[in-house]
Amino acid sequence: MSVIIRPVEAKDKSNWIKLWCDPSESYLKFYKSVDKVTPEITESTWQRFFDEKEPVYCAVAEVDGEVIGFTHYLTHRDTWMIKDTLYLNDLYVSPQNRLSGVGRKLIEYVYNETDKLGAGKCYWCTQFENHRAQLLYTKVGVSMGMLLYCRP
Ligand SMILES: CC(C)(COP(=O)(O)OP(=O)(O)OC[C@H]1O[C@@H](n2cnc3c(N)ncnc32)[C@H](O)[C@@H]1OP(=O)(O)O)[C@@H](O)C(=O)NCCC(=O)NCCS
Repeated sequence: MSVIIRPVEAKDKSNWIKLWCDPSESYLKFYKSVDKVTPEITESTWQRFFDEKEPVYCAVAEVDGEVIGFTHYLTHRDTWMIKDTLYLNDLYVSPQNRLSGVGRKLIEYVYNETDKLGAGKCYWCTQFENHRAQLLYTKVGVSMGMLLYCRP
């Protein structure tokens, strides 16, 4: 399978929306969050990808002209470094295109972007029970051994 990883373009909007939040099969469906992320949030996130003032980015995976996956990432300040840090916020490959190295290629693209954007670190998190993703993550990254908490 020949896959291209590239920055998102305006023409990708309908494909990206489908992969992002389709009620039957999508990234937000995977996280049982289709109803939590409103159309206004989806639109705002989409607009930020194209706003030069926003440190929010999207790259897509394309196979035979079809967008089949994406990653979202953003940079932020870090008290442990002068450089910014890059947070890989989201990663998704459509079910029929998995296990062909697309997820790995998306992460490698983000690593390259980390350097291009001048960030000093690239990190992400996943759920304890997401063993499928961890099979990939243990090959391309190292566990930081942190627990993630949020305000209830
Ligand atoms: C996680 C996800 C992005 C992975 O995408 P993918 O394109 O299938 O991943 P890849 O094919 O690049 O990586 C698979 C790697 O895991 C390994 N792997 C997969 N299944 C494995 C298994 N059963 N045993 C051992 N290794 C396995 C493969 O060997 C491969 O490693 P390689 O590149 O060295 O060959 C995809 O499953 C997905 O979108 N899941 C739903 C959303 C999700 O969980 N997102 C991540 C949220 S943190």
